[in-house]
Amino acid sequence: MGHRRKRNTSPVLSAGWWTSDEECQEISCPKKWREPRRANIAREVNILVAGATGHTGRHVTRMLAARDHSVVALARNPDAALRLFGESVSIRKGDVRDRASLEAAFAGIDVVINTTGTRTFWGDNGGHAVDIVGSENIANAAVHNRVGHLILLSAFGLDRSSIFLTLFSRALNGYFECKAKAEQAHIQSTIPYTIVRPVELLNRPPRGHALLNQEAPLSLVRFVSRELVAQVLAECVGNGNAAGKTFEVCESKKKGDDVHAQIAAMKPDQTRTKPSSTPLF
Ligand SMILES: NC(=O)c1ccc[n+]([C@@H]2O[C@H](COP(=O)([O-])OP(=O)(O)OC[C@H]3O[C@@H](n4cnc5c(N)ncnc54)[C@H](OP(=O)(O)O)[C@@H]3O)[C@@H](O)[C@H]2O)c1
Repeated sequence: MGHRRKRNTSPVLSAGWWTSDEECQEISCPKKWREPRRANIAREVNILVAGATGHTGRHVTRMLAARDHSVVALARNPDAALRLFGESVSIRKGDVRDRASLEAAFAGIDVVINTTGTRTFWGDNGGHAVDIVGSENIANAAVHNRVGHLILLSAFGLDRSSIFLTLFSRALNGYFECKAKAEQAHIQSTIPYTIVRPVELLNRPPRGHALLNQEAPLSLVRFVSRELVAQVLAECVGNGNAAGKTFEVCESKKKGDDVHAQIAAMKPDQTRTKPSSTPLF
């Protein structure tokens, strides 16, 4: 990191918006904290989606706008963002490799959702540039602008060992090494963070329900609709129970708890048990 970071004192936190269910019970909550979470934060929080023009980023951007949040789409190409979102969101130009562009874009932002990713893996916009340099820049600009919550879309496979994962990563120019460094940049920012690790993403409507996981030996050949992942990302926003947590997301035919309850049931990283085995199927 280029500079020593100060502990986050975002107004989002100090105003009590970032309050878990447990904290809310412990302290004497003002009335507004007892209101339903979505109603509570609607129109109060400025959310920036980095990678908004991406296949997952566009879903979460639209979803949050539809929930009446104030949404900023960060885009390298603002015209592309305008074609996707029209006037429904604000659009700010920015490239994660360019810290100065992020400093300007993050002004007044409370929550950053980072859904960026490389499409080339090599070159000047490869994994090193987007995941490592880009995440460092995002974390630094977020600290400087007193962002209250960083949410990262990472990847299933981290913490897991399998020859297939090793080969996959090598074939894609150190994919998992780049993702691990991206996660570390978000974690070390000192800003409350949430890391979401999806299995392989598909551009089709959900055929099941979002299943969040930390310890179970999930198989490598699993898929999830980008729309479901976007729902999980949106549910993390302003959710005190998501802070300091890393979890995987896949799609399950079986209906379990709703996403909000699943997030609450995930263990914080300090006590999380890492997954032990990774079958192929
Ligand atoms: N594909 C999978 O199956 C899979 C599985 C697990 C995890 N993931 C991860 O999930 C994330 C999202 O995946 P996706 O397939 O939805 O992504 P995607 O469609 O490739 O979108 C990537 C987004 O990142 C933006 N971006 C790229 N370089 C940038 C830069 N230098 N500055 C600012 N923005 C930049 C792109 O902007 P432009 O539109 O301008 O290019 C685009 O909006 C990625 O991190 C990916 O590695 C993917």
